[in-house]
Amino acid sequence: MHIHSRIADLRSALQGRGRVVFVPTMGNLHAGHISLMEQARAHGDTVVASIFVNRLQFGPNEDFDKYPRTFQADCDKLAAAGVDVLFAPTEADLYPEPQEYVVEPPAIQNILDGEFRPGHFRGVATVVLKLFNIVQPRAALFGKKDYQQLMVIRNMARQLALPIAIIGGETVRAEDGLALSSRNGYLSAAERAEAPRLYRLLNEIRDAVRAGERDTIKLENAALAELAAAGWKTDYVAVRQQADLSPPKGEKAPLVALAASRLGATRLIDNIEI
Ligand code: PAF
Repeated sequence: MHIHSRIADLRSALQGRGRVVFVPTMGNLHAGHISLMEQARAHGDTVVASIFVNRLQFGPNEDFDKYPRTFQADCDKLAAAGVDVLFAPTEADLYPEPQEYVVEPPAIQNILDGEFRPGHFRGVATVVLKLFNIVQPRAALFGKKDYQQLMVIRNMARQLALPIAIIGGETVRAEDGLALSSRNGYLSAAERAEAPRLYRLLNEIRDAVRAGERDTIKLENAALAELAAAGWKTDYVAVRQQADLSPPKGEKAPLVALAASRLGATRLIDNIEI
């Protein structure tokens, strides 16, 4: 695996490399990321991954400084997964001057996670568009675990006519159902044992909707109450339309149940397509 930190070096390394498929990450890689790397192979000739902890998408009181940085272990995992090229810029490489031109996503950036993390999706869309311009892939993969992020990027690619197929990878879970996440490492042993409740509740919502329940607010409230009783501090539990994450309107549009909740100091998000 070739590793580049400078934009110019990466660009010349990718010359003549055929169809490039791209998996951007912030490192601290787990089986969910590796599954994306393995799926990527089916969509191109050269698999490029990136590792960059993007300051622009963290709020002032979020975990940018303590976000786990595990570069050497990540490189070993990427090489073992058959990744061809890793782009690992420093902040000075990617943001040599303050990033004043930004991507301002539409209303979707202010709902759900966006309501609780103002500016987050602006930071994500900005770095992803910049990375796309650098890597110039024909396809890019993002995990469905960050469902709203996937929709923001998919909609950005469509509206800006980017010649890039945006592919969503299924969430990889621990045996007890907890979605793998770089932030799971922050959980204490007791919190880790409690954490699968979030996924269990989303499953219950999915099963109820599939069984014909149309009062999604009632389902959301029941989940909120159970989380509160178990000591969680919940930002949202919501049943939404998959494509734009707006509230359900009709019978036909496919739905997704999403939740974000805090266990101690750790904020967990998860979702399940219905
Ligand atoms: O999902 C992530 O790891 C990040 O949000 C991404 C897409 C790499 C942008 O920094």
